Amino acid sequence: MKTVFDLPGLRQEIADWKRQGLRIAFVPTMGNLHDGHLSLLERARQISDRTVVSIFVNPIQFGKGEDYEKYPSTLEADRQKLEAGHLDLLFTPNLKELYPGGFDVDTRVTVPGLSGILCGQFRPGHFSGVATVVTKLLINVAPDSALFGEKDYQQLLVIQRLATDLCIPTTIIGMPIVREMDGLAMSSRNGYLTPEQRHIAPVIYRTLQLAADKLQNQHAKISTIETEGMQTLEAAGLRPEYFSVRRSSDLTEPTSTDRELSILVAAWLGTARLIYNVKLVLK
Ligand code: PAJ
Repeated sequence: MKTVFDLPGLRQEIADWKRQGLRIAFVPTMGNLHDGHLSLLERARQISDRTVVSIFVNPIQFGKGEDYEKYPSTLEADRQKLEAGHLDLLFTPNLKELYPGGFDVDTRVTVPGLSGILCGQFRPGHFSGVATVVTKLLINVAPDSALFGEKDYQQLLVIQRLATDLCIPTTIIGMPIVREMDGLAMSSRNGYLTPEQRHIAPVIYRTLQLAADKLQNQHAKISTIETEGMQTLEAAGLRPEYFSVRRSSDLTEPTSTDRELSILVAAWLGTARLIYNVKLVLK
């Protein structure tokens, strides 16, 4: 596995591979890698000749007072996992490399509509931060495909939309959520949980499953499901921001004819902000 820190080094590797006609798959991350990330890498290896992972904690997608400063950095452990996963190229740029113009008046990529709802409503500017860094990475890695987890479902849709709208010739692939045995979705932020909170956290997945079952089998009203979901999480000691049933394709509110639905939730547990979702197809 080769590691590059700067854009010229990255571009040179990519150009060599392109000259040989090799297919490139790319997995962007912020590091602190777990099995969720590694599932993306595994799939990337299956569909390409060369795989690239980036590790970069992107400051502009964190709001004021969020966890940018304390976001876990575990580069040596990450490198070992990537080596074991037979990654070809690791790109870990510093801030100046990706933000040569600084952060105040630099160019941003914004995906309207999708960015202002759900997580975007509670984290203003977050998705523009994500869209901007992912665009920079896609331009420079120029992969045939890039893989993203459905755990961050709204992020996945934002990135699919930006790739379409900016005519970026990379196929954006969504990958299933990888969970712990008790249903908790793997996340770097799970590390913020105390043992007691870690014990409580799977309630989110259970509540989502229950809500999905009520929609599917009991034809419950969406507004009732949303209210009950919020109440269950509050009763378990969480502070939910939203518990919403949306149309999977674009996250707008569903109409009575929509069949493919997602139930999405964001909730605080202690200092950890956890996001989850389940998808269902109404019979
Ligand atoms: P990060 O949180 O490190 O996640 C990197 C990728 O791994 C994302 O596509 C995310 O959806 C996926 N992922 C995380 N946990 C997962 C799980 N349990 N199962 C499946 N996939 C999972 O998301 C980001 O970084 C950043 O916003 C980034 C896209 C890198 C832009 O800065």
